[in-house]
Amino acid sequence: MMQEVAPDDAQREQLYKALGDLNAYGFWTIQGDMEPKEPRVRELPHVWRWKEFEPHIINAGHIVPHELAERRGIVLHNPGLDMTRPSTTNTQYVAYSVYMPGEIFEAHIHSPAASRMLLKSDGKGYTTVEGEKAYLDRGDLIMTPSGTWHDHGNEGAEPMVWVDMLDIPVTMLFNAGKFGFHYTENGVQRPMQSATRSHLYSQRHFGMGGLRPRFAQTSIGNNTSSPQLHWKYNDVRKALNAVRDEPGDPYDGVIIDYINVMDGGPIQKTQNFSMQLLRPGEHTLSHRHTNSSVYVVIEGSGSTIIEGEEFKWEESDVFCVPSYKWHEHVNASGSEDAVIYCVSDAPALQKLGLWWEERKAKDGSITSAGNTIPA
Ligand SMILES: [Fe+2]
Ligand SMILES: [Fe+2]
Repeated sequence: MMQEVAPDDAQREQLYKALGDLNAYGFWTIQGDMEPKEPRVRELPHVWRWKEFEPHIINAGHIVPHELAERRGIVLHNPGLDMTRPSTTNTQYVAYSVYMPGEIFEAHIHSPAASRMLLKSDGKGYTTVEGEKAYLDRGDLIMTPSGTWHDHGNEGAEPMVWVDMLDIPVTMLFNAGKFGFHYTENGVQRPMQSATRSHLYSQRHFGMGGLRPRFAQTSIGNNTSSPQLHWKYNDVRKALNAVRDEPGDPYDGVIIDYINVMDGGPIQKTQNFSMQLLRPGEHTLSHRHTNSSVYVVIEGSGSTIIEGEEFKWEESDVFCVPSYKWHEHVNASGSEDAVIYCVSDAPALQKLGLWWEERKAKDGSITSAGNTIPA
């Protein structure tokens, strides 16, 4: 009878090599990576400071001609990600972009959903989306949903700067990124769209909460977004002021979401957009959630405490709160409001059944929502 010999490491190594040569591996060799006890997050919290960026942004406007840059975006790269994933979080690509006086950036179309938050302009910078030409002021949001033709330009005398926020990493994950550049009208290729919609079409048709003209054009692009494309900051600020004396949300202060008037949901399939007012002296409670968030500071200054570390921010800074990090927001000013704009990937996670949140009460006790997986 043959005697059993205990297999040794060398034999196992031989097996692993043979499997590797066949483009396979034993699950048990990478199990720790595949079955984390808690979500693994590579992105780091970070603040991109406007004061540090502004000179470079304006300089890029002067020395990087349009011929060299199809779009003059300065991508805000998360220090926790390597250059194989050149993005701001795992799901969002965020950039400061500058458009110099007289420039036009030609019409194009793509599958990623895009949006711009205007920081600086003399009111003559614009984006045209499917014939809706929207001139932008500070704090205005203009969306260019998946499958919509859009072009950008600056008819003013001052550089226009905005923050682009796109879901490019999501489209890359699903191998579904696609761009088109040859815009035509009546069979003739053109660099720009004609303004075929009437002035402020979006706000006049969809921006009157609870009222919608029966004849409004409710379908746009791939029909995956709100039909309203443009929100004026004045209107958003008015909406915040209207509820500023309410208790608000204990974790986010006086927060309002931009909503799709057709279904009450988020305005893009993959991203939620919100504006939040932190009143003088307001310090929110701490929570964490699987969605990550990127913020743009519209008014005032303050800080966000992320996993115990304070990240200070001021006007026009961009900062990110990675997934599943405990965070709380603070407006330390005794007299000034702070208003921060936020784009998160929560809707994508919710649709995939991957969203959950944990909330810490004042006494430190934790309640969770949406998480059915026991520790
Ligand atoms: Fe675009
Ligand atoms: Fe949060």
